Amino acid sequence: MSDIHVVVLAAGKGTRMKSARPKVLHPAAGLPLIDHVLRAASALSPSSIVLVVGHQAEQLKDALHIRPGLSFASQEPQLGTGHALLQAEPLLRGASGTLVLLSGDVPLLRAESLVRLVRTHEERRAAATVLTAVVPSPAGYGRIVREGGRIARIVEHKDASPDERGIGEINSGVYAFDMGPLFAALREIGSSNAQGEYYLPDLVRIYRDRGLTVETVMLEDSREILGVNSRKELAEVAAILRAAKNDELMASGVTIVDPATAYIGPDVTVGADTVIHPGVHLEGRTQIGARCEIHAGVRIVDSAVDDGVVINNFCVIVQSHVSSGARIGPFSHIRPQSDVGEDAHIGNFVELKKTSMGKGAKASHLSYLGDATIGQKVNIGAGTITCNYDGTTKHQTIIADGAFIGSDSQLVAPVRVGEGAYVAAGSTITEDVPAEALAISRGKQINKDGWVARNKKPKP
Ligand code: UD1
Ligand code: CA
Repeated sequence: MSDIHVVVLAAGKGTRMKSARPKVLHPAAGLPLIDHVLRAASALSPSSIVLVVGHQAEQLKDALHIRPGLSFASQEPQLGTGHALLQAEPLLRGASGTLVLLSGDVPLLRAESLVRLVRTHEERRAAATVLTAVVPSPAGYGRIVREGGRIARIVEHKDASPDERGIGEINSGVYAFDMGPLFAALREIGSSNAQGEYYLPDLVRIYRDRGLTVETVMLEDSREILGVNSRKELAEVAAILRAAKNDELMASGVTIVDPATAYIGPDVTVGADTVIHPGVHLEGRTQIGARCEIHAGVRIVDSAVDDGVVINNFCVIVQSHVSSGARIGPFSHIRPQSDVGEDAHIGNFVELKKTSMGKGAKASHLSYLGDATIGQKVNIGAGTITCNYDGTTKHQTIIADGAFIGSDSQLVAPVRVGEGAYVAAGSTITEDVPAEALAISRGKQINKDGWVARNKKPKP
């Protein structure tokens, strides 16, 4: 393929979203709409990508300036798609080759379809190639008018005659253009039409009148051109994206009990024979190993889970690592920078934060373990907490291999419990505990015989 330049239109108002947020930043299946489009475009290895912005331009630029290789052209006011593309001209001065035009709100378009568009365009040496589709309800779209089989022009729905409205082949709004004649021709587009706009599709008629070659490429799956104009369409498009990801995972050997309620982001990986129960969310760069069981209602974000892990119902795991054979939950909260060792057990109502649990360690019930390094085979009794925060600074707790922390203990950090040491239940530990020692810090129990009779029984 020759030198490719991509222009993405995103200046429109997005009125029907009724949102303070620019339309193309709304996420569908874990990624903003615009990122779905930019990812498809990247398959063309373009030498530049220009985003045409208008409404909420500052918000868009703030959100997107970190995307590599992206530059911005502003369109103010928005006078139509032909006018929008013209605004990219100053950024593309001196460039040659093929310009591919996309819309920021059309996230289902596949990279393969774009490659096919550009291949055909270049093989036929066309001045313009239009990506088309045959759809069951073409109302609202521009129609492809053919003469002798070849595309003659595109007529917008609002300008179309009853006969033209009967045409089922529509303009996807995606095109490849030879940059040579493009910008001079864009200036010839007029605005005397039903919407008083400069229509980019008018270029087809202008080129045909001049005897330039215009080609079409038809999509096999017309859903690829679905655009997002409302929250309802956002949900519909997201459902299609999710279904595609789920299909791919199931084909690779993952069981998804109820695909309609599996929310798995585009960059998530899952190993074979893992079972995903209903209502599970796997987000960001999460990687799940093979033979895991992820029960209902679990949410995992940017985390790595190794092979053979069981995550019981209603756990949240963020930016953490869980080693093979570990069991988590139900109702566990694993916060960022935690590391659960092999065969370790994190039980119900246990919260970890910046904490590592060694191989075979257990915290089975009702604990907060923050800023802690916990060794192998340590047993953390029910209700144990690390007091890691003194109101100003966070401090570390270290519990060495094989230690036993009795139930309802508080470990006031910084503090260290040595290898194999025992902490008696109900202790508040403020001093380091030597290896193999027993630490006990609680009021000594006194039993007062006959106390109730003397103090509580009514006098005769
Ligand atoms: C456009 C096409 C139509 C096609 C349809 C496919 C025109 C005139 N019509 O219609 O043939 O079937 O897409 O979805 O092009 N935009 C700007 N600046 C503007 C106007 C629009 O940046 O001044 C952007 C919008 O943000 C959007 C894209 O261009 O991303 C398409 O605009 P839209 O108004 O949705 O065009 P349609 O009427 O859908
Ligand atoms: Ca549209």
